[in-house]
Amino acid sequence: VRPVGVAVLGMGTVGTEVIRYMTENAEALASRIGAPLVLRGVAVRDLSRDRGIDPDLLTADPSSLVSRDDVDVVVELMGGIDVPRPLLLEALGNGKAVVTANKALLAEYTDELAEAADSTRSDLYFEAAVAGAIPVIGPLRRSMAGDQVQRVLGIVNGTTNYILSAMGSTGADYAETLAEASRLGYAEADPTADVEGYDAAAKAAILASIAFHSRVTAGDVYREGISRITPDDFASARDMDCTIKLLAICEKLQREDGSEAVSARVYPALLPDSHPLATVNGAFNAVVVEAEAAGRLMFYGQGAGGSPTASAVLGDMVAAARNKVDSGRAPGESTYAALPVASMDEV
Ligand code: NAP
Ligand code: HSE
Repeated sequence: VRPVGVAVLGMGTVGTEVIRYMTENAEALASRIGAPLVLRGVAVRDLSRDRGIDPDLLTADPSSLVSRDDVDVVVELMGGIDVPRPLLLEALGNGKAVVTANKALLAEYTDELAEAADSTRSDLYFEAAVAGAIPVIGPLRRSMAGDQVQRVLGIVNGTTNYILSAMGSTGADYAETLAEASRLGYAEADPTADVEGYDAAAKAAILASIAFHSRVTAGDVYREGISRITPDDFASARDMDCTIKLLAICEKLQREDGSEAVSARVYPALLPDSHPLATVNGAFNAVVVEAEAAGRLMFYGQGAGGSPTASAVLGDMVAAARNKVDSGRAPGESTYAALPVASMDEV
């Protein structure tokens, strides 16, 4: 069987974990895909650091990887917009599948990337771009594609939720908690994107675009961050049996003339302690989706950090690789036959 070649652009917080799991679980992934995944190259800026992988795989020139004949799937984990944008357009133009966690890029250029993917019938997957490990893009894109979504409401930024949770429970210092969030790999390279709500606004734009089959960019999203929230604000919230959360709210509105429009907004909001989102703490995220037929669904889990985000990236890599091997069939049941079933005595 021909292996599926993978190029990973970026080996920082997320890329390191993706490559680690890809290597450690190579056999299991190969059995799910129907062919082994082979790492063909890894783009980084600093070639002098020991990354624990074969140094011959490293390059400081990501463009050298996106046109290689032996690369089938390009995984972009660099961040930024100007550098990855032409690289991913080239990769898709060359018929490579693209997996990315880059919400800032997607919130501006999903149309352009999707068009490039359509032109070569390539895959563009981005589950990790919203809410880390939580599967929310896949359910909205696929499972709920036949329903009418009315509203998507959630906590979609782990860094700010980590800070607000600490300020709310222990009165922790804002700057110290932000530094801790960066150390734990939750924050963006420039944490202004987190604390001023830009990251959540990018995610809101992606969610609104998919949920309402519309084109919403980050600039369309009303945005306020958390940098002006004070311990006094938390004291006032507590007096009202409330807490403060940075919410992303995307909904379909009915205008006076009867036509519909999409609203997307991000701001710190007072939530009653009894609200399901009020107990989502630390770097956890949660997304509530309300739809005509499905009713209300809630998705909850780790929203940031290398390992949780790697889970979503790896899921997309398996899907993309399967499409390369098997033209998009759902995973075969036979691929799960490796484990025997335990008896009740063993439980
Ligand atoms: P990171 O730790 O800053 O890692 C970025 C990596 O990209 C580094 O390895 C860096 O190389 C490399 N890189 C950057 N610019 C490059 C260039 N021009 N050429 C070659 N290599 C370059 O970032 P991260 O936290 O892993 O995040 C990566 C992406 O995932 C971002 O789009 C982020 O928004 C997204 N994301 C992150 C999380 C999270 O929890 N961290 C969660 C979801 C999505 P050096 O190592 O040499 O500096
Ligand atoms: N900086 C982002 C956050 C990473 O804190 O949520 C996950 O997208």
